[in-house]
Amino acid sequence: MIRVGEKTLAFFKVEGVYYAISNACPHKGGPLGQGDLCGHVVTCPWHGWTWDVRTGVNARIPSVRPVQCYPVKANDGQLYVELPEVPSANRAPADADSDQRQASGGG
Ligand code: FES
Repeated sequence: MIRVGEKTLAFFKVEGVYYAISNACPHKGGPLGQGDLCGHVVTCPWHGWTWDVRTGVNARIPSVRPVQCYPVKANDGQLYVELPEVPSANRAPADADSDQRQASGGG
């Protein structure tokens, strides 16, 4: 898990591909980064809801609100996460010129 701005992201690596999702489970905020991963599905450690890390869709009940997913690119051992645009009124000064953040580690 890493913190990027005001978000905490959980990273997963499946078959050589990195995925980043919000660490907060849409159910009650459980830490998805601490969940067990089976294939592309992570199980929330609090109540067992399951989420596809590729799409954010709930694996059992697709109609529930999905977990937020963020595109990840790996380059030279670094991970780059694309975050959604933040309205300028809500941006911290350091955020003003960057839509893509660098994250270290992964897996
Ligand atoms: S908080 Fe994740 S399943 Fe309840």
